[in-house]
Amino acid sequence: MKLLVYSAQDFEIPFLKKANSARYKVKYIPDALDTNTAIKAVGFEAISIFSGDDACLVVLEKLRDLGIKYITLRSAGYNNIQIKAAKRFGLKVANAPDYSPNAIAEHTVALLLSLNRKIFLADRQIRTYNFEQKKLMGFDLVNKTFGIIGTGRIGSVLVKIMNGFGCKILAHDLLPNKKLVERYGVEYVELERLYKQSDVISINVPLTRETHYMVSEEAFTLMKPGVLIINTARGAIVDTKALIMALMGKKIAGYAADVYEKEKGIFFKDNSDQGIMDENLINLLSFENVLITPHQAYVTQEALTNIAEITFDNLDRWVKGETCRNELGYETLVL
Ligand code: NAI
Repeated sequence: MKLLVYSAQDFEIPFLKKANSARYKVKYIPDALDTNTAIKAVGFEAISIFSGDDACLVVLEKLRDLGIKYITLRSAGYNNIQIKAAKRFGLKVANAPDYSPNAIAEHTVALLLSLNRKIFLADRQIRTYNFEQKKLMGFDLVNKTFGIIGTGRIGSVLVKIMNGFGCKILAHDLLPNKKLVERYGVEYVELERLYKQSDVISINVPLTRETHYMVSEEAFTLMKPGVLIINTARGAIVDTKALIMALMGKKIAGYAADVYEKEKGIFFKDNSDQGIMDENLINLLSFENVLITPHQAYVTQEALTNIAEITFDNLDRWVKGETCRNELGYETLVL
């Protein structure tokens, strides 16, 4: 079987080659999948995509017409593929759900510590030989309330880590996890209480119709002044315009994210020569209390090894006619 890997990045190709160990014929291309690049899948039976690829209805229809049967995502999130349409076109789709929750949870903590203790500002300052401390005040995390929206694979690891910091943990999830209540004293609450009482809020839910703009203007008005918000899930869970207003009005003390609402066309490439046109992102990056990383939470050796292995394992299952445990259930309605 021939596999076309879209959005292949130089740093991940060695991991994919090792996991494949030459059992499939694989072509790696840097192009993201979209209506223009779908045609590149001609002659292949399977494609692999990442979170910046656009597998919308029109693209899926083209892929079906080109003879594609299998789509394996090198990501846990799958908001960029219209699962219902894929089913209608007879395409099998699987994601990489549990490649390394630790990688993402640890990056969330890195963002939190950097934002709270102003590490990124201190670094900028020191490089201009400014050794003052007046702009660098943070707060102790011990005894603070950590609000977590989404206690799935990543959220559960994060709960364990933040419990280690001595935080009281409030959580919100459609499916509360009893073990987290028993082991770490997590209290599951409604969003309103989480917003009102948390000193730090971490977003760890998938992007779905229900979570799109979940963190809205109304949410910001409920939050404690001085709250820090960390988003390592998906950008569009936060209403960026409302976020900018909240930052301007000093309703929140800071925002750190590994994701952005409109990553397409900007993230995953070097725009330093030509700059960017997205006014909201430009605006966000102008705040001293905003820290954005370029969707890098999964970039650890362990996560990349696991993503590569899961990608080929998904294909193996389909080829052998076995059940693929990562095949996406069609009942899930995602954007
Ligand atoms: P998961 O599926 O294990 O957990 C998600 C949790 O959110 C579940 O407990 C679910 O019940 C809950 N949830 C879903 N909809 C909800 C709603 N409307 N209200 C309240 N709770 C809701 O997913 P996992 O592995 O923890 O990943 C979470 C998200 O993180 C992914 O969907 C993905 O978008 C993002 N992610 C980001 C990465 C990055 O590189 N920045 C890498 C991996 C994942």
